Amino acid sequence: MQVFKEKTPLQEAIKAAKSKAETIGLVPTMGALHQGHLSLVKQALEVCDRVIISIFVNPTQFDNPKDLEKYPRTLPEDIKLLEEASSNLWVFAPTANELYGDNISSEQFNFDGLEQVMEGKHRKGHFDGVGTIVKRLFEIITPHKAFFGEKDFQQLQIVRKLIEKTGLPVEIIGCPILREDNGLARSSRNERLNTNEREKASFIYQTLLKVKELFGTKSAEYIHNWVKEQFTNHPVLKLEYFEIADTRTLEKINRKRKGNTYRAFIAAYVDDIRLIDNIALNNEE
Ligand code: PAF
Repeated sequence: MQVFKEKTPLQEAIKAAKSKAETIGLVPTMGALHQGHLSLVKQALEVCDRVIISIFVNPTQFDNPKDLEKYPRTLPEDIKLLEEASSNLWVFAPTANELYGDNISSEQFNFDGLEQVMEGKHRKGHFDGVGTIVKRLFEIITPHKAFFGEKDFQQLQIVRKLIEKTGLPVEIIGCPILREDNGLARSSRNERLNTNEREKASFIYQTLLKVKELFGTKSAEYIHNWVKEQFTNHPVLKLEYFEIADTRTLEKINRKRKGNTYRAFIAAYVDDIRLIDNIALNNEE
């Protein structure tokens, strides 16, 4: 497995691979890799000749400096995990200087409102940071396909919008959420939970499952109130938001419309550890 720290040798290797008509897949990550990431890599390996995993903790997408500081950085372990997964992978693990030069700042994007709600509303500038780094990675690596997890469903829709707006020729592939045995969505942040917190945090998914059940018969308002009540006095979790939104526009539901599909989204804290999850509410999706 080859590890590239600099973009020029990587770009030369990509050029050579493309000259042999190889399909290039990109799995962008911030490292602290877990089975969820590996499932993206596996999907990428199934449809691409060459898979590149980028590992970079992107400073411009963190609104909270403490969160950035505490974000796990485990490059040697990440490389080992990837080596065990396949010998055919390339890793791109650049420095901030390699990607941003002296100017670590975000471009400003208009994602047609997708960036204004949920994560965008609670984490100011987050999606400008994500848009900036994803666009940069696409420009450097020029992948044919890029793989993103549905756990960050809003991010996935924003990356699709980025492609629509920039015209970059990258096919975006959304991959299903991988869960721990208790249902908790796999996340690098789970590493910071102790055993008890990890167990208790599965409440997020249990709640989403119940929401899916209620969605068939109850109004959105009823479900909102029900969810808020479930989190009140929870011993470990603090609800930041709960939303039911249109899958395509991410607009809050007013009333269910035939033909539209919806997802329910939760963000909650365990101390200062922020967890997010979501669930498709329509089976046809
Ligand atoms: O989902 C992530 O890990 C990050 O937001 C991404 C897409 C790698 C951009 O830094």
